[in-house]
Amino acid sequence: MSLVNTRMVGQIAVLEINSPPVNALSVQLRSDMLKALTTIAENTDVAALLLHCAGSTFICGADIREFDAEPLSPHLPEVIARLENFPVPVVALLHGHVLGGGLEVAAACHYRIADPQTNIGLPEVSLGVVPGAGGAQRMMRLVGVENAVQLATSGRAVKVTQPEYNAFCDALLSDTSFSHLEGLLALGLHWVELALQKGELVPRATANMALDQGEVDWEALTAKVARSAKSNPVPNKLLAQLQRDLCLSVQESESHTRHLFLELRQSLVAKALRHAFFLEKKLQAPRGKQPLRIDQVGVIGAGTMGGAIAICFADAGFKVVLLEQSEQALSAGLERIKVQYQGSCDKGRITQQQCDVRISLINGSCDYSDVADVDLVIEAAFESMEVKQSIFAKLDEVCKKSSILATNTSYLDINLIAQATARPESVVGMHFFSPANIMKLLEIVNADQTAPAVVEAMQQLAKKLRKQAVTVGVCFGFAANRMYSRYGREIQQMLLEGASVEQIDNAMLDFGMAMGPLAVLDLSGIDIGHNARAQYPQPEYDPGYFKVSTALVNAGRLGRKTGLGFYNYSTAKPTVDQEVVVLIKKVGDELGITQQHFNTESIQQRTFLAMISEAAQVIEEGIVSEKEAIDLIWLHGYGFPRAKGGPMFMAEQYGIASLQAKMEKMRELQGEKIWPSLELAQYINQD
Ligand code: 3HC
Repeated sequence: MSLVNTRMVGQIAVLEINSPPVNALSVQLRSDMLKALTTIAENTDVAALLLHCAGSTFICGADIREFDAEPLSPHLPEVIARLENFPVPVVALLHGHVLGGGLEVAAACHYRIADPQTNIGLPEVSLGVVPGAGGAQRMMRLVGVENAVQLATSGRAVKVTQPEYNAFCDALLSDTSFSHLEGLLALGLHWVELALQKGELVPRATANMALDQGEVDWEALTAKVARSAKSNPVPNKLLAQLQRDLCLSVQESESHTRHLFLELRQSLVAKALRHAFFLEKKLQAPRGKQPLRIDQVGVIGAGTMGGAIAICFADAGFKVVLLEQSEQALSAGLERIKVQYQGSCDKGRITQQQCDVRISLINGSCDYSDVADVDLVIEAAFESMEVKQSIFAKLDEVCKKSSILATNTSYLDINLIAQATARPESVVGMHFFSPANIMKLLEIVNADQTAPAVVEAMQQLAKKLRKQAVTVGVCFGFAANRMYSRYGREIQQMLLEGASVEQIDNAMLDFGMAMGPLAVLDLSGIDIGHNARAQYPQPEYDPGYFKVSTALVNAGRLGRKTGLGFYNYSTAKPTVDQEVVVLIKKVGDELGITQQHFNTESIQQRTFLAMISEAAQVIEEGIVSEKEAIDLIWLHGYGFPRAKGGPMFMAEQYGIASLQAKMEKMRELQGEKIWPSLELAQYINQD
């Protein structure tokens, strides 16, 4: 069956692409397009060609599933050349997303007309490749060098109506969004007919358009791209290539980026980024069997976390009742929310109207009866079992029977919290990461008696909140914080063994983590984890277990909020003062810890081994059911470099034998309890 349909409407040949779900340019689609173009070109009755797509979107790029194999002919540049050199005018009718190879196709058409809601983008760099069919070069001619380079190097999609990209389209078809594609098609055909009648349509190759280089500050652009690309080297490679080729024709420059595209496809970075892309899709909730019945939400606690959770729901259009114990705490919490929304508005992230609507969706209350009718309550109160149990007992008393009762606890046993109610099947964990309205990760904690329908509803809800959700079981810290604690334990142990604060943070920044782990502790407050751990006995087999944090907390160094933590924040650039060096040395000496020599590589390797060790245990104990969840947690919860794919992806490259040998060494030094023997072959694929 062909993936394209053609028909004639008067003198206009309509070529419709129909390759769901996103009209990706698979080898079959490329081939079917070429065949259809040949047939249309032979028809002398054709005055113009209208290219459009069935379904919710225009072409969303090359078919990424083909990237692991050898590229198969016909290749995209051949389709593009055929379109660009077509004997009659070619008009692309755009809607939905026009991405990657899809934008390259559109840019090679002679005219573009679009639904104003359309998004355009060149996301190739986020997959570790570059636009491989001259998309960047043609966009330079359509929207200017700087705008095109920004689009291609950022990988981000923009609205077609964004002023910088105005010149991309010849017409926007209406100010309303289209509920029916037929309506858009009818408008598109009408536009082509009128233009034909006026004699305004002629074949014109974008590649032949003059290039207005304008005033581009390449140095500043390079620095900006390097900053935002973080550990992904591809945006800067693309930038350098485009800058070098500026004086070349589109065809010559396109052949260079094509070569780069083919070379990068098989690189480790591209494989890691593809892995990240597909695991996000794999772990997304499937379409729900039942429609999601959550309209109104209650949030208990208007502190930093509760407020951010309320924002997260209001951002997604939910009505929220924010509950606090006192009027004073409530008005302070509501004020913080207002300030935050106004800040987003001032920075241009949302409009004043969006700001007002979202603020109006959040209503405060100090009366539990105001959450009686909500469909979901999320408790974000103080991290204490006693406090949480009393809140859940109260919620059980007041909330309607169908309400889902969720806790945002980071560490506490949800089975015990559920026991405070007569409906443990309705109790679930919804563990947000701070700041809850920004961080993508959401852990859905499936407690022993949580009903499957409740878990499914939370997975559907996560999608609406635009979160990347993982469903996990109950254990101390669940999957995410448990693994992060193991990472933190290894870092503190290395401090005791002689690694310096700066060495550790710099090594992890060099690895590509978004922040150094000790700077993170300072930011979140060293006392937070310390207080959580204080509720449990210190593991007797691990004498140094977070002893550095304890020493800092005892010295009043709680992090940024006290001006002193691992770093001293009294100057513009935080420094490590002698007091911290002495404190750490003292703890190490008291414990008789042997000092070692560390470098960037040894620090990175130790932390990586710790991540894998705990991840394997989390999988083995069934806390997560898919190993991909581990990578998702690190990528979206803890700033793990996406270009490295996640710890489990890295472990596959590292090799099981090598991992086992290194863990064995650590086991000899620190004992079986900290470095247990693991059947890694069960969790890590090997070629
Ligand atoms: N190739 C193959 N499959 C793709 C795909 C692509 N380019 N884009 C999306 N899909 C698949 C997804 O894996 C998913 O499959 P599943 O249903 O089996 O899980 C399905 O299409 C629907 O995708 P989403 O769930 O992501 O749907 P959304 O509506 O949320 O988002 C989207 C749609 C914005 C198009 C998003 O999928 C996306 O960003 N896709 C990637 C687009 C991209 O990166 N294109 C560039 C490819 S590289 C290229 O074009 C090279 C060229 O220069 C030569």
